[in-house]
Amino acid sequence: MIYNKEKVAELFDGKVEHIENRPDDAMFKQVGSKALEALELEPQDILLDAGTGAGRNAIKAALSCSRVIGIDISHKSLDRARIKASEKGFDNLKFLYGSIEEPNEDADLTSYGINKILVNYALHHLPDELKKQGLTKLAGMMKRPGRMVIGDIMFFESPEKHDSKFEEVGYDGGEHDFPSSMEFLREALEELGANVRVERLHPLAGVMIADF
Ligand SMILES: C[S@@+](CC[C@H](N)C(=O)[O-])C[C@H]1O[C@@H](n2cnc3c(N)ncnc32)[C@H](O)[C@@H]1O
Repeated sequence: MIYNKEKVAELFDGKVEHIENRPDDAMFKQVGSKALEALELEPQDILLDAGTGAGRNAIKAALSCSRVIGIDISHKSLDRARIKASEKGFDNLKFLYGSIEEPNEDADLTSYGINKILVNYALHHLPDELKKQGLTKLAGMMKRPGRMVIGDIMFFESPEKHDSKFEEVGYDGGEHDFPSSMEFLREALEELGANVRVERLHPLAGVMIADF
């Protein structure tokens, strides 16, 4: 399938509860926890969670830093995130419509002083060229020194060798998912001037830490 932002948004509008309750999905959770940990959040940090979904990680992160802005293309996920944040009484969280490839389409995020960025299990929905565009825009709006952490499906080994493991990492085999190789992501971030470290959690998933 070809990437279609509206179709992806529709897909996630219909999956808000399913994603929140993914009990079967150990790798999704493990990647999210490792990615959050790798941010090494400090009380003064301002975090952008790109592809925040229903705010699972954004809400956890809000306990450890000054402010969190979550963006997503799924309005229903954003609504759910806002409800959860207000139920928990957080006043340092904001959820806005925005995509990874056009983060500033609806709101100017450059004024927030963002110095940390998380992109967890969302980048793989974009084809490679749009991933590069998105990473360039995200890196461009981040204050220096800054850190971007990507937790995602990423191929450390050839996916053909591991097709029996697609389900373990939640890869749909190419319908709406376009994961890249780990090398592609690393090079894209290095080209932007980042110092990159990688943590492999599975032959098809891991966490990438990019310091700018
Ligand atoms: C599997 S969920 C992960 C949500 C969250 N990051 C987490 O770890 O719980 C993927 C999210 O990425 C969002 N997404 C997909 N493509 C996107 C894009 N181009 N820009 C922003 N968000 C996107 C979806 O709407 C969905 O909410």
